[in-house]
Amino acid sequence: MSEVPDRNLALELVRVTESAATFASQWIGRGDKIAADQAAVDAMRLMLDTVTMRGVVVIGEGEKDEAPMLFNGEEVGDGAGAEVDVAVDPLEGTRLTALGMPNAISVIAVSQRGTMFFPGAALYMNKIAVGAEAADAIDIDATPTENLERVAEAKHCGVNDLTVVVLERDRHDDLIAELRAAGARVNLIRDGDVAPAIAAAQPGTGVDLLMGIGGTPEGVISAAAIKCLGGAMQGKLWPRNDDERQRLAVEGYDISRVLTSDELVQGDDAFVAATGVTSGALLRGVRVVGDRVETESIVMRSRSGTFRRIVASHPLTKIQSLMKGAR
Ligand code: FBP
Repeated sequence: MSEVPDRNLALELVRVTESAATFASQWIGRGDKIAADQAAVDAMRLMLDTVTMRGVVVIGEGEKDEAPMLFNGEEVGDGAGAEVDVAVDPLEGTRLTALGMPNAISVIAVSQRGTMFFPGAALYMNKIAVGAEAADAIDIDATPTENLERVAEAKHCGVNDLTVVVLERDRHDDLIAELRAAGARVNLIRDGDVAPAIAAAQPGTGVDLLMGIGGTPEGVISAAAIKCLGGAMQGKLWPRNDDERQRLAVEGYDISRVLTSDELVQGDDAFVAATGVTSGALLRGVRVVGDRVETESIVMRSRSGTFRRIVASHPLTKIQSLMKGAR
């Protein structure tokens, strides 16, 4: 059956992440992660209302009182077009940006209304993500060693050939030790587990798996991207203490439940756009070339499976005037 082409929202969304990344890039290496984040939020806010959609922010910058803009429940978009859920991370890697370290990105995901997992009080999630070849091989309830063996078998390689990205945190000491003992390479990252989750789902990035505990909002955004790329992700909510465990139980979350990418983002029409702020395995960061600013982005849609890499060149003067408008 042939399919009539319709709009690919991701092509509009990339303007949003390009702007956020460009604004945030002014703060690379300046030691001020709050200012970097604020710049990204300001730009995202400015551009979001030009996108043809009736969006509600499901994953935003927090509850209204703590976040003046892009708060959970906020309506975004130009008020026309499809009703959608929106997940934003204007600056994924605030510290990376402030410290001038690699892999900071700006990212947004959109899917049909009511299809995105709402994290509630679940701030953290245990995650495992891989690409299409190993999509059926992972099991978050199995040991890290078992997962490595299954992924290696699916990819027709040895465990020694696998590279796993893990956030460098004390809570991961045992995980890191086991992965190394099993023979895998472990790439430790300071922050930012969305970019490596997307990289794991793409061939040729040098990343085979993402494993470990990170933010739940980042998990939902990663799941949207992985759905587009055909890989797989599993997550399990990870309360930090008894208080969080209790709050989750009261809110009706089952922490023993394995959440697949299809449960984190349901339906078959997710859109994701991401732009590099600082350079990393997935994307090149923002750079000024003469009187222009260059950005590199990826744009994807789950229904079509289309993945685009977009290099854009923006006149510096246009960016400067946008910045004035955002203040
Ligand atoms: P920022 O929100 O400061 O950009 O940090 C992002 C991040 O590193 C995520 O990528 C990751 O999921 C989460 O924070 C990990 O949280 P924590 O730093 O508390 O371990």
